Amino acid sequence: MKAIYLIGFMGTGKTTISHALGSRLNMPVTDCDEAIVQYAGKTIPRIFEEEGEQGFRDMEQQTLRQLHAENHVIATGGGVVLREENRAHMKKNGIIIWLEASTEEILKRLDSDKTRPLLAGGDMAERIQTLFDARKELYEGTSHMRVDTTGKTTDEIVHEIMLHLDEYDV
Ligand code: S3P
Repeated sequence: MKAIYLIGFMGTGKTTISHALGSRLNMPVTDCDEAIVQYAGKTIPRIFEEEGEQGFRDMEQQTLRQLHAENHVIATGGGVVLREENRAHMKKNGIIIWLEASTEEILKRLDSDKTRPLLAGGDMAERIQTLFDARKELYEGTSHMRVDTTGKTTDEIVHEIMLHLDEYDV
C-alpha cells in the first residue's frame, strides 16, 4: 500500500484523524511535525525563533523525504504544501487527503494555542484567513480528496475517507 498523507491548514484535525485512520486501516502513523521536533531536539516555536521559518521549512522538507512512506499514514504540518519538492514527493508516494475546516472552527480549536508561531500575535482570525487564502490553491491542487471536517466527529470523518479511498489505487 502507498502512503496516505493528510494535508490541510493548522487545526483541521490532521493529527487526530491520522491516528483514527491508522487504527481503522491497521497502518502505522507518523507525524511529520513530531519527527522534526525529535530530529531538531527542540520545539517548533524554538525552531522558528532560532532558525526562522526558512530553517523550519528546510527541516520539514528533509524530514518528509526521509520518513518511511510506504504503508504509513502521515500527518503533515499545514505549510508542507508550500514547497514544490514536498508536493511532488507526496504525489509520487501516496494518496493525499486535504482536511478542511471553516475559519470559525479553526479559530475555536486554536484559540488558546501557543505552539503555532505563524498564528502568534495580532488578530488570529485575520492571520488564519490571510494564510489560508495564500495556500488554498496549493491544498486544492495537491490533494486527491477533500474532506470538510467542520462540525463532524472523528468517526464521521474517517468513515467519509474510507468511502472514497476505494476509488484510489492505494
Ligand atoms: C505550520 C503548521 C504547523 C507546524 C508549523 C507551521 C504551517 O503544523 O508545522 O507551526 O505553516 O501551517 P500543524 O498544521 O499540525 O499545526
